[in-house]
Amino acid sequence: MSVAQIQPQVTITTVSPTTMSTPAAPAAPFYDKGLANTVAADTQMSFIDGGKGVLEYVGIDIDTLARNSTYEETVYLLWNRKLPTKAELDALKSALQAEYEIPDAIYDMIKSFPKDAVPMHALRTLVSALALHDKDAESSETNPAGIERAKRQSLRLVAKTPTLIANFDRHRSGKAFVRPDKSMDIATNFLWMLNGEKPTDAMAKGLDICLILHADHGLNASTFAARVTIATLSDMYSAMTTAVGTLKGPLHGGANEEVMIMLDEIGSIEKVDDYVKGKLERKELIMGFGHRVYKAYDPRATYLKTFAKQIATDTGNLRLFEMSQRIEGIVLAAKADKGIFPNVDFYSATTYHCLGIKTDLFTCMFALSRMSGWCGHCIEQLMDNRLIRPQAKYNGPHAATYAPMAQR
Ligand SMILES: CC(C)(COP(=O)(O)OP(=O)(O)OC[C@H]1O[C@@H](n2cnc3c(N)ncnc32)[C@H](O)[C@@H]1OP(=O)(O)O)[C@@H](O)C(=O)NCCC(=O)NCCS
Repeated sequence: MSVAQIQPQVTITTVSPTTMSTPAAPAAPFYDKGLANTVAADTQMSFIDGGKGVLEYVGIDIDTLARNSTYEETVYLLWNRKLPTKAELDALKSALQAEYEIPDAIYDMIKSFPKDAVPMHALRTLVSALALHDKDAESSETNPAGIERAKRQSLRLVAKTPTLIANFDRHRSGKAFVRPDKSMDIATNFLWMLNGEKPTDAMAKGLDICLILHADHGLNASTFAARVTIATLSDMYSAMTTAVGTLKGPLHGGANEEVMIMLDEIGSIEKVDDYVKGKLERKELIMGFGHRVYKAYDPRATYLKTFAKQIATDTGNLRLFEMSQRIEGIVLAAKADKGIFPNVDFYSATTYHCLGIKTDLFTCMFALSRMSGWCGHCIEQLMDNRLIRPQAKYNGPHAATYAPMAQR
């Protein structure tokens, strides 16, 4: 039975990347499995050119931001589509700091969690629970007052997420909670709560760089999921809960954990060659390499590699960096001609490890940073909203008989 016979009211054709050369809207719905060739939203936040290895936030090269900016400044840039003046940045920082603390009921909730809970399950639940304690967590509206409310909710979500993650980790480690310090920036405050001691400037800087690099990345799966949720005029807490749940999947946010597991598995630099060459011969994937969009060096990995070396040296983990570098050399020799290069996850694994962050917390770190991108996209969605409602291609039967139970 042809598609036309199944759904006579619409013509559904399958469009391949080669036949779809322009973004012009097709006259009839078409089937684009995985939506890889579908443009589903306007954004002014991040631009990606995968062939050239370019990522820009509001037109500014990611490498320039990683070297010169801060996470807070990047949040301002993404949300306002311009760099802040000093006064504007100070105002954003103060507003975020004022929202770092979480309600006592949320600390009590963390205490009730099993100590072996998967961190992303804990984070998803806690982000959702924050709405219960926010009197301003109503559904969205697209008028100016509604947009302002979405911005207030965004501020709270970005400010409180580090407190949720760090204190869940303390709970499962049997340590007392550490309340946020409102005099610190987001990166410093997170490490303070996580480790119970003030980080060195270099460590805080390392985390800050990772937060900048992961803050936004076009219409990736979790960002799309967040926009789908907010487009129904649900609230930001619901949209962020959707996004955290989507990020959790191993095809999306889990790769940096896999890199660390691989480095642990290899164990020493002497074992790198056999391990990597063996995997390549068996046509197995090397974690932290390749990207659906980037077919050149991932622009987020360039500065991170330099930084990972520094932090690994400072923290007595140079061995990890040297192993990583050797893995990179072997993979590039075998795969660079196919567009396989290290991605952002490869060197962020070493960096996070050196900052004292446990491997199974890496995806939560991704969520901590991407929360700003998710919120920014939801605000963009509200400013020009249309319900996101694609169609499915029905492949089942028609006019089937309903057999009574006794006859089945
Ligand atoms: C990210 C990823 C899913 C992209 O996949 P993709 O776009 O389908 O990759 P391609 O099909 O263009 O890959 C081209 C070739 O390189 C190989 N390749 C891709 N990634 C590879 C990797 N990490 N290690 C070894 N070989 C890899 C493919 O198997 C393919 O080989 P073939 O031509 O012999 O079949 C994939 O690279 C991957 O799984 N990487 C590891 C996980 C990871 O780091 N993910 C984080 C992304 S930020």
